[in-house]
Amino acid sequence: MYRDTPHAIHLKDYQPPEFLIDRVELHFDLDPDRTSVESRLELRRNPAATRGDGSLRLHGEQLELETVEIDGNPLTGSEYVLDPESLTLHRVPDRFSLLTRVRIHPSLNTALEGLYQSGDMLCTQCEAEGFRRITYFLDRPDVMARYTTTLVADRARFPVLLSNGNLIEECRLEDGRHLARWEDPFPKPSYLFALIAGDLRAIEDRFTTASGRAVDLKIFVEPHNLDKCDHAMRSLKKAMRWDEERFGREYDLDVFMIVAVSHFNMGAMENKGLNVFNDKYVLARPDTATDADFDGIESVIAHEYFHNWTGNRITCRDWFQLSLKEGFTVYRDQEFSADVGSRGVKRIADVRLLRAHQFAEDAGPMAHPVRPDSYIEINNFYTATVYQKGAEVVRMQANLLGPDAFRQATDLYFERHDGQAVTTEDFVRCMEDASGRDLSQFRRWYAQAGTPELTMQGDYDPAAGVYRLSVRQFTPPTPGQPEKRPFHVPLAIGLLGDDGEDLPLRLEGDSQAPAAGTRVLELKAEEETFRFVGLDSRPVPSLLRGFPAPVKLRFDYGDRDLLFLMAHDSDGFNRWDAAQTLMQRLLLALVRDPDHGVLDAFFDAFREALLDAEGDRALLAEVLTLPSEGYLADQMDLVDVDGIHRARAGLERAIGGRLRADLLAVYRANAAEGCGYVFTPEEVGRRAIRNLALHYLMQSPDDETLGLCREQFAAGDNMTDVMAALRLLADHGGAEGAEALECFYRRWSRESLVVDKWFAVQASSPREDALEQVQRLLSHPDFSLRNPNRVRSLVGVFSVANQVRFHAADGGGYRFLADRILELDPLNPQIASRLLKSMIRWRRFDRTRQALMCDELRRILDAEELSKDVYEVASKALE
Ligand code: PHE
Ligand code: ZN
Repeated sequence: MYRDTPHAIHLKDYQPPEFLIDRVELHFDLDPDRTSVESRLELRRNPAATRGDGSLRLHGEQLELETVEIDGNPLTGSEYVLDPESLTLHRVPDRFSLLTRVRIHPSLNTALEGLYQSGDMLCTQCEAEGFRRITYFLDRPDVMARYTTTLVADRARFPVLLSNGNLIEECRLEDGRHLARWEDPFPKPSYLFALIAGDLRAIEDRFTTASGRAVDLKIFVEPHNLDKCDHAMRSLKKAMRWDEERFGREYDLDVFMIVAVSHFNMGAMENKGLNVFNDKYVLARPDTATDADFDGIESVIAHEYFHNWTGNRITCRDWFQLSLKEGFTVYRDQEFSADVGSRGVKRIADVRLLRAHQFAEDAGPMAHPVRPDSYIEINNFYTATVYQKGAEVVRMQANLLGPDAFRQATDLYFERHDGQAVTTEDFVRCMEDASGRDLSQFRRWYAQAGTPELTMQGDYDPAAGVYRLSVRQFTPPTPGQPEKRPFHVPLAIGLLGDDGEDLPLRLEGDSQAPAAGTRVLELKAEEETFRFVGLDSRPVPSLLRGFPAPVKLRFDYGDRDLLFLMAHDSDGFNRWDAAQTLMQRLLLALVRDPDHGVLDAFFDAFREALLDAEGDRALLAEVLTLPSEGYLADQMDLVDVDGIHRARAGLERAIGGRLRADLLAVYRANAAEGCGYVFTPEEVGRRAIRNLALHYLMQSPDDETLGLCREQFAAGDNMTDVMAALRLLADHGGAEGAEALECFYRRWSRESLVVDKWFAVQASSPREDALEQVQRLLSHPDFSLRNPNRVRSLVGVFSVANQVRFHAADGGGYRFLADRILELDPLNPQIASRLLKSMIRWRRFDRTRQALMCDELRRILDAEELSKDVYEVASKALE
């Protein structure tokens, strides 16, 4: 039990800071066991502060305070108050300089927040509230200061010393130590501070900005990883150019640095001029990384780089505004990936992710608005809602304004708020001011949680030639928000004629007939009817083209209409969506009734799509992938874990059997042409369709397909193909599977990111003994609770990507997860709390499973000491 119940922080209580900090001078004497931090702050009373008793309360946690001085005068213990979370100074001047010296212990820092040790290097992570574990400070994003940072360390152990901004001094000291001084000319909040010390190597490049400024680019890694940085560097240069062209944003320092570290809680961090990355999002060589890894690197490198404007130059006033920087920056990285890769495939991947994670979050006990009203632990709010739904909310505004007005609006935002800490309200006001549009109702997307459900109905009146489309919106209640007001929803709609061509969408009252194609309508009321005129025959509606809003659609399509859309819709996204709806319907019918049977028409459509020689292969692979077990579960009021697994596996087997010859032909036709691995949309698509074909074939394997799989595993010069084959062999099992796993491990045991894949393949296996295997792997010498990537690859993957085994009816999966959470919480609360999220939607399951999950949640809440992170999630889950 958490002894004093942690209290919630509310947006409505926001107050401007009573003091501002203009300058910060930090001096670090670095040592993994014992680092000394001296800080000199120039403080002054904030003229805009509204209240206060005149005292100064600085944040600080786990710091050993040695000295406090005001304007050079040491304070005695009676002149300040120290508690575990702060240092309070009473009666301070209106303007003064404050010196503090503290000691910290990086090697004991397992939470990976503040200054910590990763392998042989020292690094920092300060977002959201980690800076207070480095020194006493006003650790809140609306306090922006200029920093000078001096680093002193042993020269042999830590030859590279980095911090934000530009290097202004470097020298050798006695005793084998050296010093580096960095100065960051841009005021920044403390969460963007970073330092790195280590024995690192860098690849270097140079970028000339649109206005002719030369920027040195450096990617720092441990020496043995120097051969895995090229893709990251290429991605960085593409991102820098794209941001100039698309958003008019140039880089602003002389150097841009990226450092890859192996112990990292999140994906990466946008610290000013010194981005710190989980090495998973930097390191790639064709033989060690898959296409998905290459993709991930490209988009995360871009994401962090884009933060330089959306996050750093303009930051958040408080953490309730997190989506101001994250939603906008995700929108920007999604647009970047769409431009440099394949737009259609990117949209599908993004919507898949949104539906799988954000819709689920919005329907569970942790549901919250894009701009939350309250939190206990801010680390719990780095969520799919703030990131992915936040990006959709920006995308809706971009689409409502149109490209030109949206660009003017973002230009205005950058000009008006540069150097400030602002709110999502300030963002929307720029959208309005630049476009003249009224977005007052639109703002509800920031304030109301929950996924709106749109129920549409169409009927055609042949005599009048009119098609009426009625739309009703309803948003289910979420915690703390029992009733919702209607949203302002953009709808992108098309109507298909008998020949599959787009018809003109002429609304009653239109003076002119518009061109055929997509029309964007705006729904504002709870219920609205649109009347399309001049139609000679019943059209097939193509609704929500390109997924114009983060909503669920209910429309009673007949199977024939879905097949028609799948074959003819001019919108690629909706062709995919029609296929997904068809498959989902079929699968749910098979869950309810195993003898439901599958129509020949289904296999015919599948075959036709598969053999479409002109189609974009990556898109095809998306179309031909069945909805995941997790997604199917979300479509049921009461989840039938085993039924879903049986139905989905059964349909995959049927596809593999019925279409064997076609799948084999596709597999062979898409063999690589011997020029080695290239990461282009075409080649990625080719590997995707080929590996999907092999996947279906291996669901009812015979000697021939097993042979192909074995060959691909042995020959593969690229990790994409090797992993695909390894997964299939391992799931197939037997001596063959064990041998493949063994051989893979032996080959890659020294590449930690590849070892993560080896753990993950076993954790996600649908084999009946998956949990036993995962249990065994806990005591593998390479397993460690201290490395978040390793924990995610074993425990995270098992609980998120292995629905059938994690939710086993005997509760073994739940007990396993709760045990790990309890072990992990004292070490790393952020990771513990994230793992817990796979057990909080217990209400959707049968009585037995509900009881088992609740028992585990209660057991967790009963623990002696619990972090705020885990406390918040577990207690909200049981509310
Ligand atoms: N701000 C980081 C990003 O999205 C994420 C992050 C949050 C990293 C908290 C570390 C800690 O780009
Ligand atoms: Zn981000």
